[in-house]
Amino acid sequence: MRHFLTTEDWSADELQSLLDLAGRYKRQGHGTPLDGKSIALLFFNPSMRTRTSFEIGAFQLGAHAVVLQPGSDAWPIAFDDGAVMDGKAEEHVAEVARVLSSYCDIIAVRAFPAFEDWSVDRQDNTLDAFARYATVPVINMETIVHPCQELALMLTLQEKLGTVTNRKFLLTWTYHPRPLNTAVANSALLIASKFGMNVTLLCPNEDYRLDPRFMDAAQTSAHAAGTTVEISHDIESAYTGAEVVYAKSWGALPYFGRWEDEKPVRDAHRHFIVDEAKMALTDDAIFSHCLPLRRNVKATDAVMDADYCVAVDEAANRLHVQKALMTTLAGDPGL
Ligand code: CP
Repeated sequence: MRHFLTTEDWSADELQSLLDLAGRYKRQGHGTPLDGKSIALLFFNPSMRTRTSFEIGAFQLGAHAVVLQPGSDAWPIAFDDGAVMDGKAEEHVAEVARVLSSYCDIIAVRAFPAFEDWSVDRQDNTLDAFARYATVPVINMETIVHPCQELALMLTLQEKLGTVTNRKFLLTWTYHPRPLNTAVANSALLIASKFGMNVTLLCPNEDYRLDPRFMDAAQTSAHAAGTTVEISHDIESAYTGAEVVYAKSWGALPYFGRWEDEKPVRDAHRHFIVDEAKMALTDDAIFSHCLPLRRNVKATDAVMDADYCVAVDEAANRLHVQKALMTTLAGDPGL
């Protein structure tokens, strides 16, 4: 049995096979390889794209999706081993994961960090607990990484650019009024480096570096591929020559739990917005973002409406890559 928790556990060849299958499903269609199967989608946080694409993808493959929001329409869950459950939680993940495994062929989980203590959040305890107790494959629908988004991003880049190897991938931090999850930034770093791109991480200062786990993994991939991973705080040089601009906002890890202290730093960097002037510095780059995106805060209307913006294509590809993933984990992919 194989989980899909992080692309770090999957080789580039294995990921390429998923992308190839997704491409075939998209171009040629498919039968119902998951006929009679089911998937539980557990959302501890809001979603539009992930929920919709998984529900519809399961339906198109012949499977049934059950959406559960623990603490809202399903019982609150405890995760700590040995917990004395005299608080809000009505059941333990040990039972939840085993019971869902008895009904379903896949369990998928979205569980964002609590944003209080990164040393705790970085352990990804909720996802890890489901993977430990489940007896069916577990898919990460975004925790501290967002591997399904990685697949959609890479499929989109391959569709738009053909070969991605050795191209310059700019991952730029952007302003957002609130500190956001680092998951998509971590993931962009992982997938771009794994597929042999030259990655530049542009952020306001060293406090916005991503976790060493992901920086080191990207450096290891780059070393193997003969490419580079660089950090820059200079907008002009970072954009110059970029062939892909990928934007994301995230909270600085040293400020976890004391976000009021980060606010002045964040507010001083509104000019990291992706605009036409910055895009003009690139080598005719395409632009993307995982969405949702606040227009004229993270990127301007002109950028979002430009032909080079492929954010909607990337979102659309979530459907295809996740269908490939579900059939690979739980069925006969066919084709
Ligand atoms: N990109 C993404 O995961 O979107 P949702 O948060 O809407 O699911």
